[in-house]
Amino acid sequence: MKLLEGKVAVVTGAGGGIGRDFALAFAAAGAAVVVNDIGASVHGEGRDAGPAEKVAAEIRAAGGEAVSSTDSVADWESANRIVKSAVDSFGKVDIVVNNAGILRDRFFFNMSVEEWRAVIDVHLNGSFYVARAAAPYFKSQQSGAYVHMTSTSGLVGNLGQANYSAAKLGIVGLSKSIALDMQRYNVRSNCIAPFAWSRMIGSIPTETDDQKARVEKLKSMETAKIAPLAVFLASEKAFDVTGQIFAVRANEIFLMSQNRPLRSVHRAEGWTAEAIASHALPALRAHFYPLERSQDVFSWDPL
Ligand SMILES: NC(=O)c1ccc[n+]([C@@H]2O[C@H](COP(=O)([O-])OP(=O)(O)OC[C@H]3O[C@@H](n4cnc5c(N)ncnc54)[C@H](O)[C@@H]3O)[C@@H](O)[C@H]2O)c1
Repeated sequence: MKLLEGKVAVVTGAGGGIGRDFALAFAAAGAAVVVNDIGASVHGEGRDAGPAEKVAAEIRAAGGEAVSSTDSVADWESANRIVKSAVDSFGKVDIVVNNAGILRDRFFFNMSVEEWRAVIDVHLNGSFYVARAAAPYFKSQQSGAYVHMTSTSGLVGNLGQANYSAAKLGIVGLSKSIALDMQRYNVRSNCIAPFAWSRMIGSIPTETDDQKARVEKLKSMETAKIAPLAVFLASEKAFDVTGQIFAVRANEIFLMSQNRPLRSVHRAEGWTAEAIASHALPALRAHFYPLERSQDVFSWDPL
């Protein structure tokens, strides 16, 4: 028996990149798949029904079950249509993968409100809309699995991505809240922070030999390497895995930390600003985090 036999999965942003490999892997594992994608540019502009239908056709040609959906995740009504398409086509929904994404990179001091909103709408609002649309089905059938895509841009940090980092860290909070609120209905919710060579990171400039060498190494982070973890998390094998954050980079899988108190200081008579400076700070400073970016923490070549 295949791992996802009899399951119905919705994968958003599945017309290309990581999402396409999710859709193919879910279908190969026995799931019927709604391949959702608006077919936008990496900045979220334009629409093309081609990519979603192409992936759905690829699955059907391989003997699997799939339908395409070209509704946007970034709107409540259309997000509901994505989930409804699973129920209409396959009678139910068991798995939701919030993978659709766009980038509008800009240094914070130059970022426009439009650039902020566009990214928050697709990533954070879109993840809420699609997850929320599926929640009544998960609740009534007393089962379901969510997988949300986060990023080390949010978990660690990155330059020029205030909109994206905020959205991706927001998704972590959303996932944890879903895990807590829906545990009573046997519903699980987890996050994956992927590293993969897709069009999203394919725009890195390659002018110098160093840059060319670095990009060649990044190409080993194949999009298909993320899919096995998503299939596992969506399956019954992960029955006791919820509220977690994983990262995947080529052949490495990481369990990421979650915020907990690191160090506390107590002063019976209470604190003044001066006492914080002279007494609390020396104790706390030793535990400060450096102002690091994702690439400073994941500082070795992909394996
Ligand atoms: N590639 C990486 O290294 C990396 C790193 C961290 C996080 N991620 C996350 O992984 C996910 C997949 O990214 P990818 O690298 O495969 O990028 P990608 O650009 O290849 O795929 C994203 C897909 O989402 C679709 N999409 C955009 N807006 C949509 C909308 N409103 N409704 C439905 N579909 C929409 C696009 O058309 C595209 O096919 C994203 O959430 C991204 O933020 C990727």
